[in-house]
Amino acid sequence: MTTYLITGGCGFIGSHTCLSLLKRGHNLIIIDSNINSSQNVLGRIYKIGHIENNHYENQITFIKGDIKNYEILKKIFIDAIHKKKPISGVIHFAGLKAVEESVKNPLLYWENNVFGSINLFKAMKSYDCNIIVFSSSATIYGNPKEKFFREDTTIQPMNPYGYTKFTIEKILKDIYISSNKEWKIANLRYFNPIGAHESGLIGENPLNIPNNLFPYICRVAYKNYKELKIFGSDWNTYDGTCIRDYIHVVDLAEAHCAALDYLIENKPTILNLNIGTGIGTSVLEMVNTFSKVNKIDVPYSFANRRSGDVPSIVADNKLALKTLNWFPKRDLSEMCKDGWKWQINNPNGYN
Ligand code: WQD
Repeated sequence: MTTYLITGGCGFIGSHTCLSLLKRGHNLIIIDSNINSSQNVLGRIYKIGHIENNHYENQITFIKGDIKNYEILKKIFIDAIHKKKPISGVIHFAGLKAVEESVKNPLLYWENNVFGSINLFKAMKSYDCNIIVFSSSATIYGNPKEKFFREDTTIQPMNPYGYTKFTIEKILKDIYISSNKEWKIANLRYFNPIGAHESGLIGENPLNIPNNLFPYICRVAYKNYKELKIFGSDWNTYDGTCIRDYIHVVDLAEAHCAALDYLIENKPTILNLNIGTGIGTSVLEMVNTFSKVNKIDVPYSFANRRSGDVPSIVADNKLALKTLNWFPKRDLSEMCKDGWKWQINNPNGYN
C-alpha cells in the first residue's frame, strides 16, 4: 500500500478524492485546518467504507493543522519515515477559493494559498518527496476569446484567487527546472465541479451562503432561499445567461487518481491538464435540468451581472483524456440527481 499526503482532504473535492484513493487501497495522511471544511466528513467516509465492507479508518491518519505551520508539515513527513511508510506523493487541495473574497481580502489569499504551498514544497524537498498533483483552476485563463480553453490558451488571471493559483503553478515549474527535472508534477485546472457521491453521505458543504450556482440552486429547491438570482440575462450566449463546464465531483476525483497513477508510472514531467467535460451548460439550462430531473421547482429572477463573471468557460479536455486515459462518465442529470440527494439527506451539511 502506498502512502499519500492529502492537504485539504476534508474539503468538497478533497474528500471525494480521498474516497477514490481509499478504494484503491492506499494509505492517506490528511492535513486540514477545517477553516472551510468539517472533520465530520471522515466519519461519513468510514460509513461508506463499512457499507462496502471496508475499514477506511485503518487507512487514514488525520492531522488537524494548517500548512502555513512548517513544523506540522515537517513532523508529518518525519513520522511517516519513522513508521516505514514514507509519503510517496502529495495531492494539494488546501487553499481558499472564493473569487469575490479574494478581491476583498487579497492578502488572506496570498498568505494562505501561496505561503502555505511554499511551506509544503519545502517540506517535500527536505524529505525527498517529489510527486505532486496540484489543485489548480480554470480561473487562471481569465476571459480568453476562444470558445474552448486549451492548456496553451493565454493565461490572464482576473482576480487575486486566480493569480495565486497561477503563481503556485509557476513556483512548481521553477522547482522542476531547478531540481534537475526530477519532480513529477500535474497541475489539474478544474472547471466547475458539482454534484456529490451517489451515497448522499458526502457532498458540497458551503459553511455560509453559497457563492456558487449549484449549491445555491439546491438550497432554493430545498426552500432555504426564496429564489435564485440569475446574474445577467444579456450575455452574448445562446440564451443570454453564462455558460460553464460543469463536471461531476466524482469524475474529478477519479481524474486525480489517474494523474497520480500517471506520475508514479512515468518519468519526471510537469503536466498542465484541463479537467472538464468539454460540454457547456448555461445557467438557465442548469436550472431547467435540475427542476426536470428532480421534479422540483427552482424559482428564479434575473439580476445584474456579477462583477468578475465572464460569458463562457468550457474546457478543451482532449489532452487530459489522452494523457490520463480518463473520461468523465457522469452527465448533467446525474450531477443534478446526486447533488439533490446530498441536499435532502443533509440539510445542515455535516453538522
Ligand atoms: C457559475 C455561473 C454565475 C450564482 C467559480 C470560481 C472558480 C471555481 C468554480 C474554484 C456564473 C452564475 C452563480 C448565483 C448565478 N472555483 N450564478 N447566480 O463563477 O464559474 O467559478 O467556481 O476553482 O474559481 O470562480 O462558478 O458557480 O459561482 O457561477 O447566476 O447565485 O452561475 O454568474 O455565470 P464560476 P459559479
